[in-house]
Amino acid sequence: MKRGWLVANAFLKTRKFLDVYRYLEEAAARRGMQLTLKKTDELCVEFALGERDLPDFVIFWDKDVHLAAMLERAGARVFNSSRAIAVCDNKIDTAICLEGKVAMPRTVFAPKTFDGVGYSDRGFVAKAAQLLGMPMIVKEACGSFGWEVYLARTPDEAHSIVDKIGSREFLMQEFVSSSAGRDVRVNIVGGKIVSAMYRFNDHDFRSNITLGGKMRPHEVTPEQARAALAASRAIGLDFCGVDLLFGKDGEPLVCEVNSNPNFKSSLECNGVNMADCIVDYIGGVI
Ligand SMILES: Nc1ncnc2c1ncn2[C@@H]1O[C@H](COP(=O)(O)OP(=O)(O)O)[C@@H](O)[C@H]1O
Ligand SMILES: [Mg+2]
Repeated sequence: MKRGWLVANAFLKTRKFLDVYRYLEEAAARRGMQLTLKKTDELCVEFALGERDLPDFVIFWDKDVHLAAMLERAGARVFNSSRAIAVCDNKIDTAICLEGKVAMPRTVFAPKTFDGVGYSDRGFVAKAAQLLGMPMIVKEACGSFGWEVYLARTPDEAHSIVDKIGSREFLMQEFVSSSAGRDVRVNIVGGKIVSAMYRFNDHDFRSNITLGGKMRPHEVTPEQARAALAASRAIGLDFCGVDLLFGKDGEPLVCEVNSNPNFKSSLECNGVNMADCIVDYIGGVI
């Protein structure tokens, strides 16, 4: 019997997360695999104590890339890899990794600053606003559920958003108005598209379901399939959810790539249980 760990963040305990863990555990049980839930706080300490009874595989459902890297260093086969998770978790890294490989909205990264230092010169925000036009998107490098994605209608609004972001990393991006409030989520496992949904929100420019977006099953166009698969391949993901925007002529623009896509909504939307796809895929490669 193949033995695996499902590594989960110790502090995220909402139903959203717990349901995903349960789906993965049930999918593993259906395949006759033993999948043990391991919390990140316990693992950190176990590692320090030198307890390393490694399983055959690890499904890493968190963004704790240090812990993922430590597991890899110890010899575990980690899905997704620490590197792929890190690239997805930081939207600046994602954009750098995908540069020249897939089309993305035009993006300007904010230069690095530090706590207590801030930006003594905000000229780069004004220049980005000029380059990208108004309104523009201001997006924290690390964020989920649309919570850290903002729309600046004027340069003044952009400045107040930047004030609130403080010293956290962020980027500024062309607002793809042809895609306002709508996008396509493409779920991929092992280099194959397993499900896709069209998400739309009439009340917000962000289509995230958590923010009230609605969804319906979507048949990807060949262009959308190419873009999503190219993004997944470039980052080296075993499984992911790619968000695609609609460009001016409907062409796909990669918005972001999720290494731990919350597949509960896709299960509700089109009945595809991504947990089964993930477990099948892992069973085929270990
Ligand atoms: N450049 C953009 N132009 C238009 N809409 C965008 C843009 N970037 C993000 N959005 C909208 O905001 C949503 C959230 O952005 P995303 O980058 O996917 O962050 P998160 O990780 O929080 O989901 C997207 O699904 C999309 O609807
Ligand atoms: Mg998203």
